[in-house]
Amino acid sequence: MEFLNEVMTRYPDAISFAPGAVHERFLRDIDVAACVSRYSAHLSGQGLDAAAIRSRLGQYGPSQGIICDLIAAALGHDEGIDVAAEAVLITVGAQEAMLVTLRALIREAGDVLVVADPCYVGIAGAARLLDVPVVPAPGGPAGLTPAALAGLCSAARAQGRRVRVLYVAPDFANPSGDRLSLGARQDLLDTADREDFLIIEDSAYRFTGDGSEWLPSLKALDRRGRVIHVGTLAKVGVPGARVGYAVADQPVRDRDGAVATLAAELARIKSMVTVNTSPISQAVVGGLLLEHGGSLAVLARDKRDFYRNSLRRLLDSLEARLGSAADPVPGLSWNRPQGGFFVCLTLPVPATEALLEISAAQFGVLWTPMTYFQVGDGGCHDLRLSCSYLDPDEIDEGVARLARFARAHAAPDGGPLRGADAACG
Ligand SMILES: Cc1ncc(COP(=O)(O)O)c(C=O)c1O
Repeated sequence: MEFLNEVMTRYPDAISFAPGAVHERFLRDIDVAACVSRYSAHLSGQGLDAAAIRSRLGQYGPSQGIICDLIAAALGHDEGIDVAAEAVLITVGAQEAMLVTLRALIREAGDVLVVADPCYVGIAGAARLLDVPVVPAPGGPAGLTPAALAGLCSAARAQGRRVRVLYVAPDFANPSGDRLSLGARQDLLDTADREDFLIIEDSAYRFTGDGSEWLPSLKALDRRGRVIHVGTLAKVGVPGARVGYAVADQPVRDRDGAVATLAAELARIKSMVTVNTSPISQAVVGGLLLEHGGSLAVLARDKRDFYRNSLRRLLDSLEARLGSAADPVPGLSWNRPQGGFFVCLTLPVPATEALLEISAAQFGVLWTPMTYFQVGDGGCHDLRLSCSYLDPDEIDEGVARLARFARAHAAPDGGPLRGADAACG
């Protein structure tokens, strides 16, 4: 990723399909002071006086968070995830939710994490930081079949290890764009029960789904306490607030033998990492939620429409410039996700950093090599295109540049780099 950042700095005029950041237009709509005022008025309505509100926002706060009730209520009416506020932990982004959840769940030497490969760098990074071994399930989220998972579990057992946790983003994963069908979701829950592992469900791009194809989240389907649901306000709210959450309603015994929620145990771990999530940030997010009737779905609505249009534009431009699914430029192929920010394009030559440099310098277009997301081998010829940060006309122009690049340097008969740079890395 450092190389990518460096190339972006060296070619500031290049159109970049690399960042999965939110579009700047949505930052214009955020009035931080108004959000804090709205949340303060909400606290006032609950009976807190001005001094208590000042203290709630200005002092250190509870590690579990101060807007757990708002998030629990939103998940209840938006998603049918019926949990008490005590089952919610407010974190410094989804990233911290993943870190503390992994830390809590992976307890024994030999416990491993399974991820759909390629996978989000945040979970792989958290695992690396905690020295948690990561086992890739090949084929992306769609490859998480009961047979494939049973095979991974028995292979782990044969090595004296156990699959303890599976990470999956069932809705438009980063980077693959894959979405699990309802049947695959149910199979996954059954397999977790049979093989006795837990699931970290990452819902970051769930909001981009079209309402007409709505599928329940794993957590909404979870009847056996297998799922820890992780969410973020970065994509639908304001990324700079750094607010995410984990829903962990599993009962656990604390050190004194009393039963508490897993969320309380996660809060104990969090207290040793970031103490608590900034109450000011939580007030901003709380105010945003209140402005939208307490609904994450209502808050997300205009973003969903915008990103769905951007994805459609990217897919249409690719088709117009690089051929249809039935008749693509020879050697090129790409997927057609129904939501999310990302499209994966496969080249007939390795999508290396050397090729990215050529793409930036000679064609003015940037993308992310898939190897950055790969835990196991594979993905060598693939790259990720993100549409979230670009305006529609930039998407068109970016694809026009990409098409010139692909035709010149990714010809199946061997562009200049074929053979000369066969290794990925
Ligand atoms: C799959 C996935 N999960 C979570 C996040 C957001 O994490 P955070 O809330 O830490 O910004 C991202 C952001 O890019 C993501 O791609």
